[in-house]
Amino acid sequence: MATSDHTQDLDGEIDHFSEYGGSIRLRNPHIKFMDQDILYHLALGSESHDLVEMFGDVKFVCIGGTPKRMEEFAYYIMREIGHKIPTGTQLLDISQHSYRYSMYKTGPVLSISHGMGIPSVSILLHEIIKLMYHAHVKDPVFFRIGTCGGVGVDGGNVIITEEAINPDLEPFHEVSALGRKIRRTSKLDADLCAELVSIATEMDEPYTFHLGKTMCTDDFYEGQGRLDGAFCDYTEKEKMSYIHHLQRHGVTNIEMESLAFAALTHHAHIRAAVVCVSIVDRMVGDQVLAQKEVLNEWQMRPQKLVAQYIKKHLGLLDNTGTSATAAAAAAARRHLDLSPTAMNCPHKQVLIVKSPRRMNMVQQESQSYD
Ligand code: URA
Repeated sequence: MATSDHTQDLDGEIDHFSEYGGSIRLRNPHIKFMDQDILYHLALGSESHDLVEMFGDVKFVCIGGTPKRMEEFAYYIMREIGHKIPTGTQLLDISQHSYRYSMYKTGPVLSISHGMGIPSVSILLHEIIKLMYHAHVKDPVFFRIGTCGGVGVDGGNVIITEEAINPDLEPFHEVSALGRKIRRTSKLDADLCAELVSIATEMDEPYTFHLGKTMCTDDFYEGQGRLDGAFCDYTEKEKMSYIHHLQRHGVTNIEMESLAFAALTHHAHIRAAVVCVSIVDRMVGDQVLAQKEVLNEWQMRPQKLVAQYIKKHLGLLDNTGTSATAAAAAAARRHLDLSPTAMNCPHKQVLIVKSPRRMNMVQQESQSYD
């Protein structure tokens, strides 16, 4: 089959897109002709669930690698924004029937696991972007919070991605469709990035924040120049010369999702940012040697920065950047009406079902993962 290269960018011509309420663009003309849209890997559907009722109030979508980390983030952000759930209840994993991704909703914040690598994060983003579209969400902000290998950045320090680049050090993500290559610009929102840097500057933490290019690879071992995989066809000297070459090009960290995350959110006109904590300095070694408790605390660090951004945008910080007092937070909540009833939280009404028959079908289909 013929192969043709073309780059898709928002600044270029837009062939087809459906727009709902101005913000989420499904640049796919087929969706509106489907009588239902099953978000297979999320165990949700446009005709089985009332997606507007369940997700219409979402403002922030935070994604990260593991279900556990994202469940912890959901509880953390719940405390930070003072969101209350009824005594004796707990947050529900909305996508539990898919056995693939985990999704928690805490007021206006969605917390979702994306698994490992570009294929996993891409599938999730297709479905989350469609979820935002079906739910009529306006202007959501997306964050990837994760871990990475630092390039000259010690474990425990936090890196805000200025630009996501591929292993050729270019800001493009390539996918194959119908045997043709589509190249999409992997661009993150510059204003959002600058705001995160400014919030980070105000934070009084015993670690440093860095801004730089993030190289995204398809592999943790050979793809990132490690010497400790099952296979290795290069010397330590060659590896070190490669890591120095990355550093000279402004690469501060290496991970495995940012390229697709930046490209797909940019293509959908969604503001997005990537914040990762370094868990090993690749100038020094390849193995992740920090202890579990230390790693757990490090993984909180990107979450803290994103939580600070969210609180700021919900009006929950006083003008010194510290959390508002309980009274002020309560007043802000009243103003924003973050109460469980107003926010239609899944833990309150669990899943808001339009058609029980279709919902059973969606859940059964999602479970047949063999
Ligand atoms: N994630 C990666 O992809 N690489 C690392 O070195 C650490 C975390």
